[in-house]
Amino acid sequence: MTEEKNREPQKNIDETALQRSFIRLAGALTGQKSQSLGRPLTYCLTTFGCQMNEKQSEAVAGIMDEIGYQRQDSEEADVVIYNTCTVRENANLKVYGRLGHLHSLKNENPDMKIILFGCMMQEPHVVEKIKKSYPFVNLVFGTHNIFKFAELFYGMLLSDMQVVDIWEGTDQIVEDLPTERNYTFKSGVNIMFGCNNFCSYCIVPYVRGRERSRKPQAIIKEVERLVEDGVSEVMLLGQNVNSYGKTLEEPVTFAQLLRMLEPVEGLKRIRFMTSHPKDLSDELIETMAASSKICHHLHLPLQSGSSRILKEMNRRYDKEKYLTLVDKIRKAIPDISLTTDIIVGFPGETEEDFRETLDVVEKAGYDTAFTFLYSRRTGTPAAEMEDQIPEDVAKERFNRLLALVQQKGRERSSRFAGTVQEVLVEEESKEKGIFTGRTQYNLLVHFPADESLLGSYVNVRLEECKGFYYLGHLEG
Ligand code: 5AD
Ligand code: SF4
Repeated sequence: MTEEKNREPQKNIDETALQRSFIRLAGALTGQKSQSLGRPLTYCLTTFGCQMNEKQSEAVAGIMDEIGYQRQDSEEADVVIYNTCTVRENANLKVYGRLGHLHSLKNENPDMKIILFGCMMQEPHVVEKIKKSYPFVNLVFGTHNIFKFAELFYGMLLSDMQVVDIWEGTDQIVEDLPTERNYTFKSGVNIMFGCNNFCSYCIVPYVRGRERSRKPQAIIKEVERLVEDGVSEVMLLGQNVNSYGKTLEEPVTFAQLLRMLEPVEGLKRIRFMTSHPKDLSDELIETMAASSKICHHLHLPLQSGSSRILKEMNRRYDKEKYLTLVDKIRKAIPDISLTTDIIVGFPGETEEDFRETLDVVEKAGYDTAFTFLYSRRTGTPAAEMEDQIPEDVAKERFNRLLALVQQKGRERSSRFAGTVQEVLVEEESKEKGIFTGRTQYNLLVHFPADESLLGSYVNVRLEECKGFYYLGHLEG
């Protein structure tokens, strides 16, 4: 049995206040339960996928904390929550695999609650499968209604049935809900949601809906509050930040937004992700070059180096345009670090097309490139294309690409060898006494330090290049 909980978005109510009242109601139930058990109630939250998901998990964690649950790493918890990803098939398979394990945990503790949300749940065939084959899951919701998590959670506590609430879309952006933060000194900040690009391989526009930008005032207010709270580095998040603000009542460009954030006192570093090459403006390049806070790092997904494949991918740029853009960026910001995403084995990709990709990797000078095997996503145009590439062919190309990307990345990173860089100290590595941090170029550095330096900026001499990271020592 499943219970559908479709309360449509309502514009005429104070959604934030409403959700806060559900936090109190759920908190009262939780307090009673905890008292009768004589221990605090616990939850375990796992995030799959991208930084947008990380950010949305922080919102869910913030609400769980306020309700009165204690977070823990073990899945032997009173509530287990998965924030799912569906950008590639592997991410889905991982979730199904782990649900089997959760089922056995739940057999031992029938009071345990299992919650699934996020991108994968926006796919109807996934929800059907969960209803049919995983009836022990207690609550399922998607990407558009995370703001009403408290309401859904409270409903789930009162219900014996599987609660399912998936919205097809929304134009609502609810501000000011409680949120937890993974780090005290850096934070993601959503500036927009959704995507209108419909790259032919990509499921994101279907599961995250149409592009919606937050108002600049709301973003500035959030950043100011974060800075007051000790944050000095923000990562502005959106599927395509370069088209930020186009749909606002009073349109604002992404570069304008960056210039509005620049004066926030105490803010030291501004990063952003992801940039679509087709929308990257001269205004943005000029703004980056003139800024003292915007990090000289640009993630500029290539996807393919073949103009023919790029057309099939609906990327709306070609190889030449991409390389010209890279040249222009390097002229304006000579020390820029460029990173990218590349897909191998898109339908119809020939050896010749693939060599075009290798050629761009040779020419563009990426510091890092994330390489992906094409994954056929049901519902996308590319899934219907003829000439899907056999797995062995794609894998063989993938390995060649990876080898080149690693070689080029190492060459590129070696430019920092022996230099002293300012590093934000982020966490202790697996090795005790060795801490990791990042330069403005997003380069990871490991160095001996102590906990008192967490969250501060230190000068580190980069000594030994280990490929995608450096070993170094504090300087002076
Ligand atoms: N198959 C493989 N990789 C994909 N990506 C998006 N969709 C797919 C897919 N169907 C990659 C793109 C994107 C990154 C986040 O994931 O490279 O930039
Ligand atoms: Fe997917 Fe393309 Fe949108 Fe990125 S820009 S989320 S790859 S559709």
